[in-house]
Parts: sequence; structure tokens; C-alpha cells
Amino acid sequence: MLLRRFAIILLMSCITYCYADVTLPAPQKKDGMGLFDSLKKRASTPGGGFPTAMVSDDELSSVLWAASGLNRGKNGWTVPMASGKPPYIRLYVASENGTFLYEWEGHYLREINKQDIRSDIGKQNFTKRAPYIFIFVSDGDSLEDYDAQKANDFSQIAVGAMSQNVYLAAAALKLSTRYINSINAEFIRQSLQLPENSKPIGIMLLGK
Ligand SMILES: Cc1cc2nc3c(=O)[nH]c(=O)nc-3n(C[C@H](O)[C@H](O)[C@H](O)COP(=O)(O)O)c2cc1C
Repeated sequence: MLLRRFAIILLMSCITYCYADVTLPAPQKKDGMGLFDSLKKRASTPGGGFPTAMVSDDELSSVLWAASGLNRGKNGWTVPMASGKPPYIRLYVASENGTFLYEWEGHYLREINKQDIRSDIGKQNFTKRAPYIFIFVSDGDSLEDYDAQKANDFSQIAVGAMSQNVYLAAAALKLSTRYINSINAEFIRQSLQLPENSKPIGIMLLGK
């Protein structure tokens, strides 16, 4: 009886506090649209008509891998990072099921919270329509070797490379995307419980 009560309490607290990792299917790494065709098709989907249809897990996985996945062994990524450092931009994914951190090492999503924060992330009303919102956050701890100016420059360059990869992968998979600078940084900080030295830089909408 006591054991049963303990199990129920454990289950209840788990429902409230336990966070689950989400396994991603293997990303697409071959075939598909050629690079030059996706360069020809790269474009921002207009915000007002941003499509709301769900992106498949396979598609999400491939776009995340393009953004900052490992592409050669344990120390090579799809995007260049200063001094070959591991990605110092964290990529969060906001969805109707909660907010997740893309863990490039292991290629999975780590649950950060179970809330749907999409409607408050961007300043423009249409951003909440997107099935997924990627949030690019500069990780201060990983950039502590650099002064503030350089850390900021390197973060912006990294987000540029990551977002272009997202644009090209989205074009190749016939998905919709748009980079957005106009964000509610303070809201993002609080929702993701970011440390003081981490800075939200921009977001990207992903839909179909
Ligand atoms: C640094 C940067 C910031 C942007 N910020 C916003 C934004 O806040 N809101 C928005 O709707 N689009 C934003 N965009 C998307 C641009 O408006 C879009 O890329 C531009 O109109 C060119 O269209 P194209 O990407 O289809 O070539 C941004 C793009 C970049 C590169």
C-alpha cells in the first residue's frame, strides 16, 4: 500500500517535472535537390501567408542537421565555427508540444519545457502561425575566450551560416521558412531560463 502511494507520488511529480528527450529520425544526407537548384529556390516565405501545415519528423530532423549537425566525425559541423569550436549558438525549437534544445551531439531534442511559447516569441503577429520556430541563442560560456565585440561578431556570423543552411535545406525539401530579427528577447530569456551571458539573436519560422 505504502509502495503504491510512493509510486503514485513519483508519477505525479514526474508529470510535473520530468523532461523527456525526443529521438529524431536519421537526417537526409544524400540525394534530393541539388545545391544549385536549392540556391535558385532560396527565399523567405512571406510572413502574412505563412503556411501552418505540419512539418514531418524526417523533415525537421534534416533541417536541424543542416543548421548545425555533425557532418564528419565528432568535431566537424555543417557550419563553420571560430577556431573549430563546437557550435556556440544553441538552437532551440518551439512547437505546440513544448520547447526543445537541439543537441547536435547525438542528434536529438532535449525538452526544456512543455509550454507552447510560439505566440509570444516574435513581435510580428504572423510568427505564431509557424508549426516550428527555431530560436538562435548565443552561448556566452562557449565564447568566454573572446571580448564582447568579438563574441557578438562571431555569434552573428554563425547565425548567418546556420540560417542560410536552414534556407537551403528548406528549399530542397519544399518547406517554408523566414528569418526574423524582430523578437521578444526578454520573454525568450525567461521562458528558456537563459543565463545572463546568453543572448537570443534571431528566430526562423519553419512550416509547410
Ligand atoms: C538579418 C535579417 C533580419 C530580418 N528580420 C526580419 C524581421 O524582423 N521580420 C521579417 O518579417 N523578416 C525579416 N527578415 C527577412 C527579410 O525581410 C527577407 O530576407 C528580405 O525581405 C529578402 O527576402 P528573401 O529572403 O526572400 O530574399 C530578416 C532577414 C535578415 C537577413
